[in-house]
Amino acid sequence: MKSAIVLMFGLALAPAHAAPFDKGDPRAGKALHDKSCQTCHDSSMYTRAARIVKTPAQLAARISGCNANTGAGWFPEEERHVAAYLNHNFYHFK
Ligand code: HEC
Repeated sequence: MKSAIVLMFGLALAPAHAAPFDKGDPRAGKALHDKSCQTCHDSSMYTRAARIVKTPAQLAARISGCNANTGAGWFPEEERHVAAYLNHNFYHFK
């Protein structure tokens, strides 16, 4: 009985499932992205059939890598905004 109560209490306290990148702001991300990322590829890169990014972690890693490669100079929170934008508009990871 005691363990059942503990279990119920634990479930109630567990955080609600949060969408990936929900701390990012997609609008800020779009502005950052459109400024620094469209010299090589437009957004069809993110919807092509053979896209390489398959998980939220891969998306975050890719953005981080492209940030470094292109010298965009984004802070981690700016990377989160771009991740929120790309996920919201193209990848739709839950
Ligand atoms: C110098 C050219 C170039 C620039 C600038 C560039 N990218 Fe890319 N990006 C590429 C290429 C090439 C690929 C495809 C790589 C492959 O197919 O293996 C790619 C792929 C990607 C993918 C993966 C797409 C998939 O298949 O799911 C993401 C996400 C991405 N880029 C994000 C960004 C972001 C964010 C920026 C801005 C910081 C950026 N890119 C700027 C060249 C570029």
